[in-house]
Amino acid sequence: MKQNIETETAAGRPVAPPPSLSTLPEWAHFEQAARAARIDPSRLCVINAAGINLDTSGQHASEALQEAAADLLAARNFNAAREQLLSGGVVNPTENRAAWHTALRAPATVPEVAAERQRLIEFIHTADSERRWRNIVHIGIGGSDWGVRLAVAAFGYAGTWRRVHFVANIDGHAIQGGLSGFDPHDTLVVMASKSFTTAETLENGRRALEWLQAAGVADPYKQMIAITARPEAAREWGIPDAHIFKIWDWVGGRFSLWSAVSLTTALAVSADVIAGMQAGAAAMDKHFAEAPIAENAPVQMALSGIVNRSVLGYGSLNIAPYDFRLANLVPYIQQLEMESLGKSVDIAGDRVSVPTGPAVWGMPGTDAQHTFFQWLHQGSDGAPVDFIVCAQADHGWPHHHRILMAHCLAQRQALLRGKSYDEALQECLADGMPLERAQWLARHRLHGGGRPSNLIILQRLSPYTLGALLALYEHKVFVQGLVWGINPFDQWGVEYGKVLAKGLTRMLESCDPVDPGYDASTAYWVERLRGPCTG
Ligand code: F6P
Repeated sequence: MKQNIETETAAGRPVAPPPSLSTLPEWAHFEQAARAARIDPSRLCVINAAGINLDTSGQHASEALQEAAADLLAARNFNAAREQLLSGGVVNPTENRAAWHTALRAPATVPEVAAERQRLIEFIHTADSERRWRNIVHIGIGGSDWGVRLAVAAFGYAGTWRRVHFVANIDGHAIQGGLSGFDPHDTLVVMASKSFTTAETLENGRRALEWLQAAGVADPYKQMIAITARPEAAREWGIPDAHIFKIWDWVGGRFSLWSAVSLTTALAVSADVIAGMQAGAAAMDKHFAEAPIAENAPVQMALSGIVNRSVLGYGSLNIAPYDFRLANLVPYIQQLEMESLGKSVDIAGDRVSVPTGPAVWGMPGTDAQHTFFQWLHQGSDGAPVDFIVCAQADHGWPHHHRILMAHCLAQRQALLRGKSYDEALQECLADGMPLERAQWLARHRLHGGGRPSNLIILQRLSPYTLGALLALYEHKVFVQGLVWGINPFDQWGVEYGKVLAKGLTRMLESCDPVDPGYDASTAYWVERLRGPCTG
């Protein structure tokens, strides 16, 4: 990893924070070109990257916009910034560290990563060859949870020989459900926490430990695993060294899927899943590093996202995986995008002049069609949609798959081309309606079209293509952060919430006078929710 001393002044501020977006003439040109660009239904634009087809035909485009985008990226020193990211430079200035998750999946990586990878493989091999632990309770939250949930559901959806329960929430019902139905003598408890300070994970881990102890398990700590950047904390907790796997400080929590956090995926499905995902992500890293801007999938996705959010004003992005196995892709991308880009201050500390990261939401199609697609089609706001579908299914009913693909293409087609008043009118008349009714109904049935979308087609859902897909979004987020001038690798808002929750937990568990700094409503509810004070 690169040294980071040259990135800060003696006062601890970044040496030369990037200029605010609003001061860049390149931004003004980009904005102007974006306003003039149109979605052209006769345009076809497909980029192939690491086995993924990204069809951006449904986005606003023009030659002028493409040129302005290249100038904007140059003004943001895109090449140098990308090199910093990929070589472990300090790209997270507010926490003064790298975000070097790409090193975790690089085929020829640094020795410490390779050694830890080997330890993990040996652990999995021993567990599998001895057929140990039929049950796994995976305890972790956010980045220590979503990626593993996603991979286990994607590749273990038809059932696995080990049963896995995920426990993230501090709500006691979560750990209650997570432990129920499992034989403690045949259960491995995996605690994944980069910081090993996260209240949810530590409390749920304690409940799991008590459960093992109550069942008379001979050495409960030997049935526990810790995956963390603070091995000393896990050791203090009682977990033996052989059961502690390392994450590094330079791996952001929401990127830790690429670390030993994926142990649960390997035990539940197969170690090949981790290897395949890493290979696919590494291929996307290579594409991101080498492809020219106009053919660079993450860059193009980032740029159209900026057009949609910062120029056209769309407040959200809808993720529509047309794949039942990818239900957890939505919260995964939600965390990746919203924790990374949910910021409105740039690295210099100034307010960004345009709206930044959109709200991300979604649900697998076709369920989504029967839930909120009406709003996407004809609601007053609308949202850009990322449609994701596989060309080939892994079940034996090709007819189902053709219907699924047809639905995916149909929704996108409607958003792209819409239906004019005349078309709607002709439809109504063809149904035999009287003219007056047809004219009235046509106004309800027309569809404006021109609503932006991406179509992402994977040949098949494999560990390789899923890995590439996740890396596609990661790099897209990086480029957007770069253009907006914000740091996508910190999460001070979340940290603030954690600190407040600590104070409130103390308040709720004590009889101390309520903190006079609390607002009236919080103070009122602390008094009422903590019940009668007997202490
Ligand atoms: O939500 C904030 C966050 O810090 C995430 O970035 C992270 O994935 C999650 O909390 C869990 O953190 P940890 O792995 O340290 O328990």
